[in-house]
Amino acid sequence: MYRIVIEREDDVYMASTIGKRVAEDFGLNKSQQTKLVVSIMELTRNIVFYAGKGELFIKPVPSYGIEIVAVDQGPGIPNLDQILNNKKVHSKTGLGLGITGVKRLMDEFEITSTVHQGTKVRAVKWFSEGQVSQID
Ligand SMILES: Nc1ncnc2c1ncn2[C@@H]1O[C@H](COP(=O)(O)OP(=O)(O)OP(=O)(O)O)[C@@H](O)[C@H]1O
Ligand SMILES: [Mg+2]
Repeated sequence: MYRIVIEREDDVYMASTIGKRVAEDFGLNKSQQTKLVVSIMELTRNIVFYAGKGELFIKPVPSYGIEIVAVDQGPGIPNLDQILNNKKVHSKTGLGLGITGVKRLMDEFEITSTVHQGTKVRAVKWFSEGQVSQID
């Protein structure tokens, strides 16, 4: 398991690079690798922008998938329901796929956020059939 402290833009790229390497090492195909890496970028970018500081955990779970957990003790997301229901909440930058993009790209997705306490996102990219085979 990897733990990456996220507090500046460079940490976003560090986390993405590690995520890419783990995805390759565990045999995800290119499109699954990209989905994982983009998700890591979105979640860590949010930490830098909105929480200032947090952590990303990258955990490969054999015969299951790669789990990412992004946690921060920032301001929390008061309008989370609205964001998840995608009522056109205008983004600051408008560049990324945002939280709903991560939900779409990953196979499992959970978010909990408490105002003044922080935000935690857990998501998993499964190893798909054909990518994992038991060899002994
Ligand atoms: N870790 C966080 N802590 C506090 N607020 C957050 C956090 N992540 C997201 N938010 C809030 O949720 C909103 C939606 O985030 P999302 O990533 O979906 O879009 P965005 O960051 O606004 O734009 P984009 O990611 O498309 O550049 C943000 O505008 C911000 O207000
Ligand atoms: Mg964002």
